[in-house]
Amino acid sequence: MKLFDVYPLNNITITKAQGSYVWDENGVQYLDMYGGHAVISIGHTHPHWVRRIEDQLEKIAFYSNSIHIPIQLELAKKLGEVSGKQDYQLFLCNSGAEANENALKLASFHTGRKKIIAFSKSFHGRTSLAVAATDNKSIVAPVNETDNIIFLPFNDQQALQDCFAKEGKEIAAVIIEGIQGVGGINIADESFLKLIRQLCDDYGAVYIADSVQCGYGRSGMFFSHDYAGVNADIYSMAKGMGNGFPIGGILIAPHIQPKYGMLGTTFGGNQLACAAALAVLEVIQQDQLIDVAKQRGQYLLNRLKTIEGLQNVRGRGLMIGFDVPEALKDLKKKLLFDHNVFTGEAKPNVIRLLPSLAITRKQVDEFLDVLKEAIAEITAHATENA
Ligand SMILES: Cc1ncc(COP(=O)(O)O)c(C=O)c1O
Repeated sequence: MKLFDVYPLNNITITKAQGSYVWDENGVQYLDMYGGHAVISIGHTHPHWVRRIEDQLEKIAFYSNSIHIPIQLELAKKLGEVSGKQDYQLFLCNSGAEANENALKLASFHTGRKKIIAFSKSFHGRTSLAVAATDNKSIVAPVNETDNIIFLPFNDQQALQDCFAKEGKEIAAVIIEGIQGVGGINIADESFLKLIRQLCDDYGAVYIADSVQCGYGRSGMFFSHDYAGVNADIYSMAKGMGNGFPIGGILIAPHIQPKYGMLGTTFGGNQLACAAALAVLEVIQQDQLIDVAKQRGQYLLNRLKTIEGLQNVRGRGLMIGFDVPEALKDLKKKLLFDHNVFTGEAKPNVIRLLPSLAITRKQVDEFLDVLKEAIAEITAHATENA
């Protein structure tokens, strides 16, 4: 049987991982500045995470949501503590798209309305409503097309106000990433998030903070939306939540009431996934990884700004991007194949850095040295061929 060929692959096979490093089948070591697509929060194969999963596996891996699962309550308590949203309610699922799908559906149930506001360059996942709210026509199948999504320009206060003034009573929710990831590391203005809060309050709509990529401490606060000093009604989470074990979830404000059967899942919240997620939060708390992300991210950002050739260096915590000029268009490839460093990208010309929150200062310096070397090599090569 062949695999369904949807991913353009780098010709590399990773067989081992630890902390911020991974190794290929030939034993070559790579520095992971991509965190396996923003997923690795506490570091690859963290020993506490491995032990927690192994211990749980010896007891029970899965039983359905038709019985009490105390480890879900344990996870909810810890998540409340670490996120500071103790009075919120937790619904568990398996991925980021599913988290947003449930968030949007819940907002519609809660308000009895159909319209959703989303923004230019947004990415919310590939399930039907999440993909409809994603600003990329090429991944929206005809069956996902709907008139219920209104796209507005990101960070445009006037457009948002005008839209609410026109059809505010029909708006079920506004969904926004605190820092757009796939869209190229674009930070939502604090004033824009405050305005969303205010308009949602004024018109009875639900503010959904997509925190799948920018959440879980990556930005230097638990949710990047927290920088605005206002609470969202629903936070969606996945990626860093399990450090590679598939788990997602939504945090739901206390005024949104549950009803039996409203949401549901077979696998979501299983014992094994909860053990992985608890291990992540325990390490984040014990090693103060949110502060580490903030400080190390600021250091990395400041140093990147001094490197000639990189444009528009931006980000928060360990979610950083910069534009690569045409002359350096091969930089990402060079970093990977000549210097053994994984980075992320965003089309057309952005390099995204999303390392583990536990990356050390030494590893950050290692990256900066290699980056400068790679740029110098490309520049020297261009001069030779001029
Ligand atoms: C902001 C955001 N939301 C949702 C998703 C979808 O998550 P998943 O791939 O786990 O379905 C992603 C994935 O990249 C994302 O970056």
